[in-house]
Amino acid sequence: MRVVIKKDKQAVAEWAAHYVAYKINRFRPSAKKPFVLGLPTGSTPLGMYEKLIELNQAGKVSFEHVVTFNMDEYLGLEPTHPQSYHYFMFENFFKHINIQQKNIHILDGMTKDYAKECRNYEQAIKDAGGVHLFIGGVGEDGHIAFNEPFSSLESRTRVKTLTDSTIKANSRFFDGDISKVPTMALTVGVGTIMDAEEVLILATGANKANALKHSIEGAISHVWTLSALQRHPHGIILCDRDATGALAPETVDYFLDIEKNNF
Ligand code: GLP
Repeated sequence: MRVVIKKDKQAVAEWAAHYVAYKINRFRPSAKKPFVLGLPTGSTPLGMYEKLIELNQAGKVSFEHVVTFNMDEYLGLEPTHPQSYHYFMFENFFKHINIQQKNIHILDGMTKDYAKECRNYEQAIKDAGGVHLFIGGVGEDGHIAFNEPFSSLESRTRVKTLTDSTIKANSRFFDGDISKVPTMALTVGVGTIMDAEEVLILATGANKANALKHSIEGAISHVWTLSALQRHPHGIILCDRDATGALAPETVDYFLDIEKNNF
């Protein structure tokens, strides 16, 4: 696993956006051979989206032949609800770039048939040829997408009940009112994410330090679902200094040294 440490969240956003643009450009996507990108929501990736919009508008990267799959969506929120992940993605990213509507995939949180929706999503990823680069964030309890602690590390797209800790953390987007936060979500599984050719996880801020410590230095465990990345052949955790606060100083020094000349 690579751990790329940057000084602050702006530097993380810059690095992530340039990395995504580089990956897309190097792939030379076409209508017949699109680049398949997995995308997260949350506050962490906002800076990356802003920077990618700039790069797109400056003609430095095109999303014309990029197919996207979002990680998750709350159950019971209309796509027009300001806290739905549909709304988040359109407002913060898709409406500003040259992506084709037909290439955007987000789980339908209003579905009545969860199992079918999740099955179809897995099939759509397969039909697209698999994900080239899956980008994610991480929860304070180490969850990736909505794969809460004790999710199977082999899990696929499914419905999940959210933990109190996640509901509390996410209530900041719902006027701080816990009762407004949906209690369930549809999410890709840990296995779905790990099937991607490459996985890039973004983590900024001291509140992610504990999750990083367990996932990087601890054993692979369903308690911290991000730790599954240790088994991925091309896994990167991109973080700021604050998020490394609970790692051993030797771990931080090791990664700063080994990554100093890398992209
Ligand atoms: C939610 C999302 C996750 C995200 C996490 C962290 O629970 N389902 O995909 O990684 O929040 O969010 P933030 O980046 O706002 O800390």
